[in-house]
Amino acid sequence: MPKPLQCPAELLTLDLVGRTYVVTGGNSGIGLETVRQLAKQGAKVILACRRVAEGEKARKLILEEGVRGSIEVAELDLAHLDAIRKFSSRVLENHKAIHGLINNAGIMNPPKGKTQDGFELQFGTNHLGHYLLTELLLPALKNGAPSRVVNVSSCFHDKAFGREGKIDFDDLQFEKKKYDGWEAYAQSKLANLLHAKHLAKRLNGTGITAASVHPGWVRSNLIKFSMPVWMQNTVLKPLLKLAGMIEPWQGAQSTLFALLSPEAASRSGAYFSQVGIYREKKACAGGWPMESPNPHAHDAALAERLDAISRELVALGNSVT
Ligand SMILES: NC(=O)c1ccc[n+]([C@@H]2O[C@H](COP(=O)([O-])OP(=O)(O)OC[C@H]3O[C@@H](n4cnc5c(N)ncnc54)[C@H](OP(=O)(O)O)[C@@H]3O)[C@@H](O)[C@H]2O)c1
Repeated sequence: MPKPLQCPAELLTLDLVGRTYVVTGGNSGIGLETVRQLAKQGAKVILACRRVAEGEKARKLILEEGVRGSIEVAELDLAHLDAIRKFSSRVLENHKAIHGLINNAGIMNPPKGKTQDGFELQFGTNHLGHYLLTELLLPALKNGAPSRVVNVSSCFHDKAFGREGKIDFDDLQFEKKKYDGWEAYAQSKLANLLHAKHLAKRLNGTGITAASVHPGWVRSNLIKFSMPVWMQNTVLKPLLKLAGMIEPWQGAQSTLFALLSPEAASRSGAYFSQVGIYREKKACAGGWPMESPNPHAHDAALAERLDAISRELVALGNSVT
């Protein structure tokens, strides 16, 4: 089993006082660890979450550790376009500049469902919600430049239990074909990667760079639709650990590297992968950065088409910021 990649100490001790970051899904798992590390380094962190009470619990827990930075909890439901607009307006009102947006929240393999706006739940939450959020926060990211957008994708953008990651423009929302939770997850995670690639191209020269990451196979609540979380955290934990499952703080390393390293800024659009499961064995050790083995991940025309359709679906019209 390859060793998990670890952020160099100099990045995890950088002084982030005066810098503001937004972390979606910051109440749990990898997002919580990202919030914790950034606050530890002195940053102001906006912990965006749909369950505010859980966000407040996380905030209290981290502040009790005596971090130097501050944490503001803000309500955000990524499965609801109006809620994303409300959240973004509040952020823009209160924060002139943002130095990093970490599009981390996600769901994996839920039963068939729809967002408030009628999108397939995983494509709608994991991709479209973050797409709209990013567009709305661009003015503050521009004010904070040099700034970064980090999309938390997954190695499952390549293949998820045999389902090859692809964007099915003929049936994005699983209205014609039979719903498959893993196929939908792979599509949404490929969309995260393509979104970052296209952002890098579009924002070239603005001082905003973009990256996508695979955080590793991480012990978190993400598994909840596929296995009881308590089972993962108790009886199966030693076995899963032996098989390569890592802890949430280790899962946050790729995000932190993509957010804080000079290498990531100089390679806007790149993909940074923790150890993962890929169709090509040589990719399984991960890499910061790494070439995805999925040919669709390198298709600029596909990324452009996805951008255009996402813009239309979230009702942003033709205005390109
Ligand atoms: N864990 C892994 O092995 C793994 C592997 C590859 C990629 N990832 C990616 O890593 C990211 C973080 O996942 P995690 O492992 O840390 O899982 P997690 O502990 O379940 O965290 C997911 C976060 O997303 C939030 N979320 C879900 N739906 C949302 C919505 N509609 N609006 C706002 N927030 C929402 C969750 O909120 P609630 O607490 O309210 O549910 C939670 O805060 C995800 O994008 C996932 O795809 C994880």
